[in-house]
Amino acid sequence: MKTTFSSIFLTLFLFTTTISPLTAIIHDSSGNKLLHGIPYYILPLLRGSGGGLTLSQTTKNACPLNITQEPFEVNRGTPFTFNPIVLDEQFIRGAYPLSIEADVINPCSGSKIWKVESTTSSKNNGDTFVTSVTVRDSNSKKKDDDDDDDKGVDIVTTGGEFNKPESCFQIVEDVMMPGLQSYQIQNCPFKCGSSDDGFTCYNVGVVTDVDGNGYLGRTDAMFPVVFESSYGTYV
Ligand SMILES: *[C@@H]1O[C@H](CO)[C@@H](O)[C@H](O)[C@H]1NC(C)=O
Repeated sequence: MKTTFSSIFLTLFLFTTTISPLTAIIHDSSGNKLLHGIPYYILPLLRGSGGGLTLSQTTKNACPLNITQEPFEVNRGTPFTFNPIVLDEQFIRGAYPLSIEADVINPCSGSKIWKVESTTSSKNNGDTFVTSVTVRDSNSKKKDDDDDDDKGVDIVTTGGEFNKPESCFQIVEDVMMPGLQSYQIQNCPFKCGSSDDGFTCYNVGVVTDVDGNGYLGRTDAMFPVVFESSYGTYV
């Protein structure tokens, strides 16, 4: 009897702990609940893997701005806010569709909302970027591997619109290092009305070009991050 009870209990416990990250409230690096509309730095979990996410304009007067990573760990980058799409809740929960917005002055006229932009759709700039980012010696491979071309590179820029598939993000808890809480940002077009990709969410992480510049974009890799309140840390 006791055994049965405890195994049921254990099953329930396992079930709840596996399920809970999906709706659990996200926490910042100080252990406080992540708040709607409050600016946070987005920092890589792993030490020695660069600084925080920021906005950059590599080409003079080019718009919209790209989301990139500060090369040096000491730089926290730009603060960003998280805004739930469906429910106007005070706290940010895992797997809820969000818009992510930069909390700085933007020299471009559009919004500061993140959006995923395919570099293949803009042929002029796109081709150089795809060549430099996907495979370093892609020129030689391109002819016999057309699949790479079709994939292109999807980078994250500003200029998005609230509740649009390309601006639809979520945060999920990841299990990168046991005991260390970190999160993975994903782009989930279907959660903001797109039916193009089924129920696919894409990991968002840093992809590096030949010059070592880190661009935020869709990637197969994990990019575990933590959120640090830009009002200061209270540890
Ligand atoms: C963003 O990155 C792409 C690819 O490198 C580049 O063509 C574009 O000019 C960049 N945008 C800005 C604002 O720097």
